[in-house]
Amino acid sequence: MKKCFKIFTAAGIAGSMFLCCSSVENPEDTPKVSTLKEAPYVSGCAVVPSLLRTNLDYSATVVREMRSLTAENAMKMDAISAGKGQYNWTDADYIVDFARKNGMRVHGHTFVWHQALPSWVKEFKGNRDEWIALLKEYVTDVATHFRGNIASWDVVNEAFNDDGTYRSTPWYDNIGPEYIELAFKFAREADPDVLLFYNDYGMEYSKAKSDAICAMAEDFKTRNIPIDGIGLQMHVNVNSQIEGFFSSINAAAETGLLVHVSELDVALNPSKDENMTLTETMLQKQKIVYKSMVEAFMSVPAAQRYGITLWGLDDSHSWLTPNPDWPLPFDADFNRKPAYFGMIEQ
Ligand code: XIL
Repeated sequence: MKKCFKIFTAAGIAGSMFLCCSSVENPEDTPKVSTLKEAPYVSGCAVVPSLLRTNLDYSATVVREMRSLTAENAMKMDAISAGKGQYNWTDADYIVDFARKNGMRVHGHTFVWHQALPSWVKEFKGNRDEWIALLKEYVTDVATHFRGNIASWDVVNEAFNDDGTYRSTPWYDNIGPEYIELAFKFAREADPDVLLFYNDYGMEYSKAKSDAICAMAEDFKTRNIPIDGIGLQMHVNVNSQIEGFFSSINAAAETGLLVHVSELDVALNPSKDENMTLTETMLQKQKIVYKSMVEAFMSVPAAQRYGITLWGLDDSHSWLTPNPDWPLPFDADFNRKPAYFGMIEQ
């Protein structure tokens, strides 16, 4: 049976259209809102500047549905840093401009990560003080460039292993675990108003990792190291344990900090089977996972809910789709999938 929903775009009456999908919806779950933009949480997605510039369906869907943008890659160190003290802001600035013109929030991602390091950093030879100086210069320059135009930053990304120990990275190996708090301090010194997040994956399946991250946040609060929020990436899949969404999100909320579901996608093909094909059953399972994630997020006290950010917009541009997969709420033609309705039927 086909069911049709009337959808109004942000443009209002002129932008209304009918959308049909093959799923049978439970009448009790009728959406109270008709776009993600109207959802009772800040909806966001990771974006790619070249698609914003050239793909009208992509950019119109972003504008219609999202209240917050994260750069999928354009604000990572290898995208911005052309060499010591040299920067390429073009793509990152394009996103900030696009967001400003469309009244959206921008979440910065990310100052410090073990991936996306430019070769000059990988090859950098220096003692601990020189590494700290390098970290300070980079964080200060980037935070200063975007000051006033970016609401929040993932200051440090993925500093822990799944067992709760520190991940070995050039930052950790050359500075020690203090690189994390130093990055937060440098960011706060450069921009007193921007919100500072620690961001990581796997808190939903590893209690050891979740405990380590929450303990670090508590320790930072006790020692007045600036930190405003915890980002849980939530790269999950159709087989993920829903209970872990609730326990990890609530553990993060227990710290009293803001909570950001920062990189949400729900893989349908986690085993990366090259011959996988999409079925309606898979789409319905995915819808339940998306819906549960929103429920877990909404169980956080309202003042601590920072938002839910999707890692991409549509299935054809996801980082997961070199292998067949359909991880996002929009299909390759930007049609709303059952997952989309899972996100607005609360
Ligand atoms: C990914 C991007 O989506 C890819 O395009 C890129 O090749 C690698 O990085 N955790 C993060 C994100 O914090 O920055 C990663 O993004 C996905 C996992």
